[in-house]
Amino acid sequence: MSAPPLDRPTAPDEAALQALFDATIAADHRIEPRDWMPEGYRRTLIRQIAQHAHSEIIGMQPEGDWLLAAPSLRRKAILLAKVQDEAGHGMYLYSAAETLGADRADLTDKLIEGRQKYSSIFNYPTLTYADVGVIGWLVDGAAICNQVPLCRSSYGPYARAMIRVCKEESFHQRQGYELLLTMMRGTDEQRAMVQDAVDRWWWPSLMMFGPPDDDSPNSAQSMAWGIKRHSNDELRRRYVDMSVPQAEVLGVTLPDPELSYDAEAGHYRFGAIDWAEFKRVISGNGPANAERIARRRAARDDNAWVTEAATAYAAKRTGERASQEGPATEERNEPGVEQ
Ligand code: 3HC
Repeated sequence: MSAPPLDRPTAPDEAALQALFDATIAADHRIEPRDWMPEGYRRTLIRQIAQHAHSEIIGMQPEGDWLLAAPSLRRKAILLAKVQDEAGHGMYLYSAAETLGADRADLTDKLIEGRQKYSSIFNYPTLTYADVGVIGWLVDGAAICNQVPLCRSSYGPYARAMIRVCKEESFHQRQGYELLLTMMRGTDEQRAMVQDAVDRWWWPSLMMFGPPDDDSPNSAQSMAWGIKRHSNDELRRRYVDMSVPQAEVLGVTLPDPELSYDAEAGHYRFGAIDWAEFKRVISGNGPANAERIARRRAARDDNAWVTEAATAYAAKRTGERASQEGPATEERNEPGVEQ
């Protein structure tokens, strides 16, 4: 059922614009790039969308490391498609940030200079091929859990980008789970590799949802604006509830001795997350932060000539088109001038 239409006032003063913005949010309609929005809303969106875009682009690295070592042509084709999808996600998200007035090159510079964040999860190394499966299952699984509600985010371009991203993340999650199922049906050594990867990725996956609610400075305002639809802890709990039965089917043990089902609450209880580790990683001191940023910097600098060439070509094409079309219609049809 669609929300009722809004009365749109015509007065352009700030109070009326704010009232229209508030009514749009309250009615659960979308804010679009043409609409007036408070500066804080715009800044919060740029912060979150940029961080999300950076995560997709940096997130290509841990799995990209295995492209040349995939165990079969089939696995290589799947992994290649997945890594390319992540690049696409980054592009949709940078485009969404551009609708808010951000500049893509400037956002990339901020990432490289450590002035904008990217997800903590991509600062851990991928040690064996089982990590590729576990990233698909746990990391993309966490991404889906966090991002499906963002398809209803109040900012139109972000919400629409999320629809396609989530469809592709579903494929990513399934390919990871299928890879792990195959390995679990293999040798003892393969099963041990899967368990070892689960042991290393489980806790960092829980950290992806962000700090606990009582230590999350942005949540309250972001939820009031409809940018985020659920709190960090709520989504983390949903993720644990979803993952435990999947681990049982797979035949792996999640590395948390305190994990137990609370029938009264209808949720799994889990042990304490190491928030000191989380803070270390997001402040640039995780196991692979330096390597991730160094590679991103090299990609920007080594490929600058491609951007320059593409920009020069686009400018040339625009110039050619303008000279073919001649002067604008209004000038050609000046009153009193015979055609
Ligand atoms: N990694 C790095 N930084 C994190 C983080 C994480 N896992 N979780 C939180 N933070 C940062 C926040 O950005 C914020 O820092 P800032 O104010 O300097 O920007 C600070 O920690 C406090 O956290 P808050 O809870 O107050 O921040 P938010 O309200 O922004 O919530 C979030 C954090 C839940 C991650 C939210 O921003 C969000 O939902 N973002 C969109 C999804 C996203 O970015 N996902 C990244 C993973 S993408 C991915 O997984 C790709 C796929 O291919 C696997």
